[in-house]
Amino acid sequence: MSEPASILEITNLTKHFGGVTAVSNIDISVQEGQIASLIGPNGAGKTTLFNCVTGLESPSEGSVKFQDQNIVGLRPDQIAEIGMARTFQNIRLFSQLTVLDNVKIGRHCRSKSRLWSSVSRNQKQRQEESHITSHAFQQLSFVGLEGLRDHLAGNLSYGDQRRVEIARALAMGPKLLLLDEPAAGMNPQETQQLIELIHAIREQEITILLIEHDMKMVMQISDWVTVIAQGEKISAGEPEAVQNDERVIRAYLGESYDAET
Ligand SMILES: Nc1ncnc2c1ncn2[C@@H]1O[C@H](COP(=O)(O)OP(=O)(O)O)[C@@H](O)[C@H]1O
Ligand SMILES: [Mg+2]
Repeated sequence: MSEPASILEITNLTKHFGGVTAVSNIDISVQEGQIASLIGPNGAGKTTLFNCVTGLESPSEGSVKFQDQNIVGLRPDQIAEIGMARTFQNIRLFSQLTVLDNVKIGRHCRSKSRLWSSVSRNQKQRQEESHITSHAFQQLSFVGLEGLRDHLAGNLSYGDQRRVEIARALAMGPKLLLLDEPAAGMNPQETQQLIELIHAIREQEITILLIEHDMKMVMQISDWVTVIAQGEKISAGEPEAVQNDERVIRAYLGESYDAET
């Protein structure tokens, strides 16, 4: 068997905001095909790290390599273009657009025509539009929301909105998918469905890096867990090892660490 290849290589990543060091000297290596998780108490720097990886923030120091390409300095759309998609902790959907149109926006970042530049379309553009629509519909079906295609995104439950965001990210055709607290606001049944969805995504040969607060879910789903606290990496390993690590338990004191429940 060949060695697993690293798809994402984060080295010495540091991000300062004025006097605050949100991320301090972090190394993370994500292997192709993994479900990797990033956990840590509130304010640990998890979202900032995602923002640095996806081009929304520029790191103060360090390097990020995606499929062996240095991506620091690339814009978010350029990073999406080469195969990295994400969802957001604070859901970012167009609430006044339909569910299907929200997913189509993901695909449009890959196409030459723009969603709203459609006043006079030639035949080629119409074909492309219809291809985008059917591809978006496939992604919606994949996340189990095809029945809600014509609903306004803003009218959906929290859990369903998170699935729309995942469908939109998948519409970009990523090799790596970053999910920022996808189970937030979900009930236990929705969380279980999400776990199944994440497994199905991995079956599509998409690697997953997940930030999640639901410890039970993290321990159940992850191949590899990295723990950060106050910007620093304090532990990394397989779920059981991390769960029993004194430094991790200490970091979570005062937070509801409920992996056993
Ligand atoms: N744009 C910003 N400007 C200033 N400080 C920020 C900004 N974004 C995050 N921070 C700070 O960085 C730290 C880490 O935040 P964040 O990455 O959101 O943590 P987490 O996602 O782990 O809860 C916090 O102290 C937060 O206040
Ligand atoms: Mg966060």
